Amino acid sequence: MSNNPIIVFEGIETSGKSTSLKKAIKYLKKNKIKHISFREPGGTNLSEKLRQLMLNKKSKLNNKTDLFLLMASRSENFDKILKENYKKKVILIDRFIDSTLAYQHYGMGLDKNLILRMNNFILGNFKPNFTFLSVVDKKNMLKRLKSRKNNNKYDNFNYNFYNKVQKGFLKIALKNRSRYLILDSNKDSLKIIENKLIKKIKKILK
Ligand code: TMP
Repeated sequence: MSNNPIIVFEGIETSGKSTSLKKAIKYLKKNKIKHISFREPGGTNLSEKLRQLMLNKKSKLNNKTDLFLLMASRSENFDKILKENYKKKVILIDRFIDSTLAYQHYGMGLDKNLILRMNNFILGNFKPNFTFLSVVDKKNMLKRLKSRKNNNKYDNFNYNFYNKVQKGFLKIALKNRSRYLILDSNKDSLKIIENKLIKKIKKILK
């Protein structure tokens, strides 16, 4: 597909997104493929501070303020990480522009066009090459939410909220099928998911 692509990992809490990202990093390390990874919100030192402001459990910032913090974090990452490493290393991102549409628009009802324009203002035409979207069904989500540690402010939503967010992610992915692979943790075992992921990564890196 592309030399040193940008690969994004998306999905709601409990979907298995982080496990998939870890497997991808392990594969790149094992094969000595130059790469960097970062998360959003977070990334640069400043962006990690913005993450803390937004996600710490005591935060009472409203949805709109969160959106500005997310965008500020993204803007710094674009300038200090993405531009610096683009085409030099494989770039793996734990959440990116789709998370903002899924959580802030589909989940919280903030204006979609505003979010699209903000992303465009920050990133111009810069787009990820490929996205892995991890999904989970109601039964597993409820089970996993129960046993999940309450690590941050966004871990506290109920099933209905995460369901709306996941539907949003799926809408985005199904509109751009060639750039997405949906990893379904209800249907497939961890091993099968890992095989699908690595097979796709090999193809993307060709
Ligand atoms: P995570 O790093 O554990 O995945 O959590 C980050 C949280 O931030 C998660 O609940 C999703 C949320 N988030 C948004 O709401 N919008 C965004 O644009 C991004 C990048 C994350």
